[in-house]
Amino acid sequence: MSYLGLDLGTSGLRALLVDEDGTPLHAVERAYAAAHPHPGWSEQDPAHWIAALEDAVAEMRAACPGFARLRGIGVAGHMHGATLLDAEDAVLRPCILWNDTRSSVEAARLDAMPQVREVSGNIVFPGFTAPKLAWVRAHEPEIFARVAKVLLPAAYLNLYLTGDHVADMSDSAGTAWLDTGARDWSDLLLNAGHMRKDQMPRLVEGSQAAGPLRADLAAAWGLSGPVAVAGGAGDNAAAACGIGALGEGQGFVSLGTSGVLLAARDGYAPAPETAVHTFCHAVPGKWYQMGVMLSATDSLNWLAAITGSKPADLTAPLGSDLRAPGPVRFLPYLSGERTPHNDAEIRGAFTGLSAGTSRHDMVRAVLEGVAFGLRDSLDALKATGAAFETLLAIGGGSRSEYWLKLIATVLDTPLSLPASGEFGAALGAARLGRCAAGADWQAVMTPPEIARTIAPDPALTEAFAAAHAKFRAAYAPTRALQ
Ligand code: XUL
Repeated sequence: MSYLGLDLGTSGLRALLVDEDGTPLHAVERAYAAAHPHPGWSEQDPAHWIAALEDAVAEMRAACPGFARLRGIGVAGHMHGATLLDAEDAVLRPCILWNDTRSSVEAARLDAMPQVREVSGNIVFPGFTAPKLAWVRAHEPEIFARVAKVLLPAAYLNLYLTGDHVADMSDSAGTAWLDTGARDWSDLLLNAGHMRKDQMPRLVEGSQAAGPLRADLAAAWGLSGPVAVAGGAGDNAAAACGIGALGEGQGFVSLGTSGVLLAARDGYAPAPETAVHTFCHAVPGKWYQMGVMLSATDSLNWLAAITGSKPADLTAPLGSDLRAPGPVRFLPYLSGERTPHNDAEIRGAFTGLSAGTSRHDMVRAVLEGVAFGLRDSLDALKATGAAFETLLAIGGGSRSEYWLKLIATVLDTPLSLPASGEFGAALGAARLGRCAAGADWQAVMTPPEIARTIAPDPALTEAFAAAHAKFRAAYAPTRALQ
């Protein structure tokens, strides 16, 4: 038997096929772009997701005989995106993505409404789904009037796979329409945003079956056995499933487009005032909390793009020996920031530039700025009672040894690196697919083998703590200048 995990990411789709033991059989990736038609806007055409999926499946079928034994599929999606469908399930406009900040006014208005934070357990961030719909209502009323269903990106793929409107709890918690403690749509939150329950998909747990794979798709893909499609998950919950982070003390730091520090929680303990996100986990009876910074590897990618370089070429000259904090500070707020500032308008900055500043100094400043942003998230998470002895490091940025040593030292927390192999959201999604096909989630969601652990450098923790304090202090004056 085999199981397919689909990680519908911001820059592309990753399809991972695993066998009964979760051992990877084959992986395929397909890239797609996001459009930025105005400053702060970020949109994607859902047709590109389906094309990427069909392409990936075609390649996988041709390359891997194990695909014919497929029994379960799970989808992990980039969170919060608003895919608007009419009564015939036709897409009404491009999906507005998680890193789109156009709806900051609507978000602030919803966030200030009585009981909204209490019921959702979260600040209504501009990236969340509810303010996007409020923006559409205000600016595209003819489209708003035709919205029959709102689906998150993963739920849109669920619709394609099953023919049914089904979403999981972990992703749905990022809409600001879910009662996150009760794991159900909230009439109060829906009413606040002028939405109705019939516009929402049916809810299931991420590890539960959403439905069987559509018979016509199964036939087109050459499958004969029954294939269960799981509820799926938001990408961060799926990544937590991929590394077996399901209970207290377990978590990860993810260096992707966004930077995430995630703590799995046994209970529901929201703390919206910290700007930490509190969401349902993808398995029943569990939650997780995370601090989210919007531009992690994105900050380095930006510097690489404007200097005509590649991110790896910028970091390679640093070697792997951690140095004391440099004289240049970088505030990594290229797209605004969620944790800890909840500020969609703030933008990035370099300070401490001199005539002698080199490109090299600026690279270090960017890496340090992202590490300091993650430290802000750690401090916010600690305020909710979350604690870690060690964190797993995942995501593209974790390929830089220098960055990992820096982050371990700035967080003053050891970072464990999984042994080579699959351990991200695609594996978590494949594991959810396996659960939907009948496996017990407690048996499936195991931690990976650890290759090595990177300890904080005790000789530099104090210097970085002092530099972090300066970084924190730079927020207010930078804000005032903008
Ligand atoms: C989480 C968030 C991002 C996206 C990126 O709240 O907005 O991590 O899920 O994929």
